[in-house]
Amino acid sequence: MTLDGAPQPAGGPAPQAVTQPVAAPLTAAAIFLVVTVRPGQDSAAAVRGLCGDLGGLLRAVGFRDLNAALTCVMGFGSQLWDQLAGPERPAGLHPFREIRAGERHAVATQADLLFHIRANRMDLCFELATHISARLGEATGTVDEVHGFRYFDDRDLIGFVDGTENPTGQDAVESTVIGAEDPAYAGGSYVIVQKYLHDMATWNALPTEEQENIIGRTKLDDIELDDAVKPSFAHNALTTIVDDNGEEIDIVRDNMPFGNTAKGEYGTYFIGYARSPQTIELMLTNMFIGRPPGNYDRLLDVSRAVTGSLFFVPSVPLLESLADDPADGGPDPASPDPASPGQPSPDQGAPAGDCSDTGGDPPAGPPAPSDSAGSLGIGSLRGVTQHG
Ligand code: HEM
Repeated sequence: MTLDGAPQPAGGPAPQAVTQPVAAPLTAAAIFLVVTVRPGQDSAAAVRGLCGDLGGLLRAVGFRDLNAALTCVMGFGSQLWDQLAGPERPAGLHPFREIRAGERHAVATQADLLFHIRANRMDLCFELATHISARLGEATGTVDEVHGFRYFDDRDLIGFVDGTENPTGQDAVESTVIGAEDPAYAGGSYVIVQKYLHDMATWNALPTEEQENIIGRTKLDDIELDDAVKPSFAHNALTTIVDDNGEEIDIVRDNMPFGNTAKGEYGTYFIGYARSPQTIELMLTNMFIGRPPGNYDRLLDVSRAVTGSLFFVPSVPLLESLADDPADGGPDPASPDPASPGQPSPDQGAPAGDCSDTGGDPPAGPPAPSDSAGSLGIGSLRGVTQHG
C-alpha cells in the first residue's frame, strides 16, 4: 500500500522521504499542543520514544473512524533539535524572532515541540493528545494547549472566511516541502504558530466596509477587493510576497478559531507551513512594521499576538530515526544513513518541483521494504506527500 492507501504497482519505486501531512486539508477540529521539555536525559529519552511511537498511536486512534481523517504533525524547536540531533541543523531553523513596532509586538515564546493534531472529530484529536501527553509524562514542562473549531463556513471569529487563497495540490507541496536547497533535510518543512486574541468589541464597532478594507476581501461572499480600491495596508496585500520574477511565494495556513466566553477570549490560532521560514517572517515584518514601514496591518489594532514559536518538521523517516539515541550506538539522526529506506541523502535531494502529490506517480528511487511507507500509519494518510 502507498501512504494514501492506494495500491502500489507491484515492484514499483518506493517513496524516499515521506513528508509529514503538513498540507492536509482543513478539518472541523484541531488541537495545538505547544510543549517545553524539561532538561535532562530522561526527558530526551521520553521524546525519542514518542518519535518512534507516534505512528503507532496515530494508527490506533485513527482507525476508530477512518473518515475523520486524523493527522498529526510533530515539529521541533531549535534548542531541542540541537540536543537530539545536533550539531547539524536544518538551514532555516532558529528560535522565533520577536518584532516590536509602535504598539505592535510579535512576542517570542519559543517552545520545544509542536503537535498539530487535526481531524473532523474533536474526540479523536483529544484522544491522540491524551496519549501524546501520557508518553511525554514527566518530560513535559509548560504546555500551551488550544482547541480549535470550525466556525460556520471556515470563518474566523472576526467573521471572515479564512484559508481561501491557500495553495492546493502540487502548489501546496512546492510551497511547504524542503527540496534540493537543503538536501539532508529534504522532505521536511517549517511551521510558525502564533496565538492571537481579538478585541471583539472594537472590531464589531467598525463598519463592515472598513473591516473589508482591513482584510482585503468582502465579508459575506469572500471576494477579493479589486486592486483599484484595495488599500495597500490590507491584510492580504501585506501578506502577498513575490520573488524576483514576480511569482508569488505561498505558504499553507490552517488557522483555527478558539475561545472561552467566560474569560472573554476570542482568538485565531495562526499556523503557517513554509518551505523556508523567511517567507512567513517577511509577512510578519510587513504586518507588524509595515510595507513601507508605518503602512502596517490594521488587523493588529484589534488583534494581539500572545505567543510565537518556530519549528522544523522533519520528514517521517528522519522523525523516526530520532528514536535511536546515537549515544547508544544507534544511527545518528543528523547524518541519516543514505542506504536506509526512505532517508534523504545529500545526493538524493530533489527540488520540490519534483515532488509528487499522493495522486501522482512516485518518483524513481531505490526500493524500500514494503512496510516503510506506511510507518506513520492511518492517521497520517491524508495530505501526505512523497519526495523523490
Ligand atoms: C489575527 C490573525 C489572522 C487572521 C484573523 C487572519 C485572517 C485572514 C483572512 C480572513 C484572510 C483572507 C482569506 C484567505 O485568503 O485566507 C487571510 C489571508 C492571508 N493571511 Fe491571514 N490572518 C491572520 C494572521 C496571519 C499571519 C500572522 C500571516 C502570516 C505571517 C497571515 C498570512 C496570510 C496570507 C498569506 C493570506 C493570503 C493572502 C493572499 O494571497 O490573498 N495571516 N488571513
